[in-house]
Amino acid sequence: MEIIVQSTTVDAVELAAQIIAREVQANPHPVLGLATGRTMEAVYARLVEMYRAERLDFSRCCTFNLDEYVGLSGNDKHSYRHYMNRLFFNQVNIDVRNTHLPDGASADLEAECKNYERLIRESGGIDLQLLGIGQTGHIGFNEPLSPADSRTRVVTLAAETIRQNAPLFGGADKMPRRAITMGVGTILDSKKCLLLATGEAKARIVSQTIEGPITTGIPATALQSHPNCTIVLDEAAASALTKGRAGSGMKPIH
Ligand code: F6R
Repeated sequence: MEIIVQSTTVDAVELAAQIIAREVQANPHPVLGLATGRTMEAVYARLVEMYRAERLDFSRCCTFNLDEYVGLSGNDKHSYRHYMNRLFFNQVNIDVRNTHLPDGASADLEAECKNYERLIRESGGIDLQLLGIGQTGHIGFNEPLSPADSRTRVVTLAAETIRQNAPLFGGADKMPRRAITMGVGTILDSKKCLLLATGEAKARIVSQTIEGPITTGIPATALQSHPNCTIVLDEAAASALTKGRAGSGMKPIH
């Protein structure tokens, strides 16, 4: 894992957006794995800016999002499809037919999960997977005890995740309890992973992810075994790291 600590949230977001932009420019057929959540909103805003100001070209991109809530169709304003269309896909020159999210409203969820894995395989696999991290240590919606070889499937959200995201739904009672998520194994198959975490609320789980033992109790620790994983942090998210702030593979950039 390469750990890069930036002094501010803006700088951390900028670096994550630059890493994505580099992939989009250098790869003739970029397959991007995308994430949603509050952390990523600023990343998409920056990519949209790059498209407008610098003509960053997304027309050759194919995308696969990590997850979607079960029971929500793409028209539901709480769905991740709606989030992606609004904040990114509708703002740049990507062909929306090349953008993929699991269909949370599918009548056959099991078939939907299998089909999602097939589509990822047929695209040639994900070149760069963008990841956030939840307070439980989830990546995608792989909550604690998700096996390292898990594939796209229906999962039950942890109580902590429901608490974390309920405000976006106007209350926990309005929030779906299940989601479709790429598995930890699906994520680890990506050629490169890029995890972005910002803010003090992520400090504890970030230190466990980077400095703790690999355990299914904290699914993000599986990234320690990925051959090409970059973790971008702001100072606040890095504040609980204890080892090697200026060495041992860590590259503080200020
Ligand atoms: C979203 C996702 C989640 C989020 C995580 C952090 O697609 O896969 O793992 O990245 O819950 O969310 P925020 O950024 O809202 O703290």
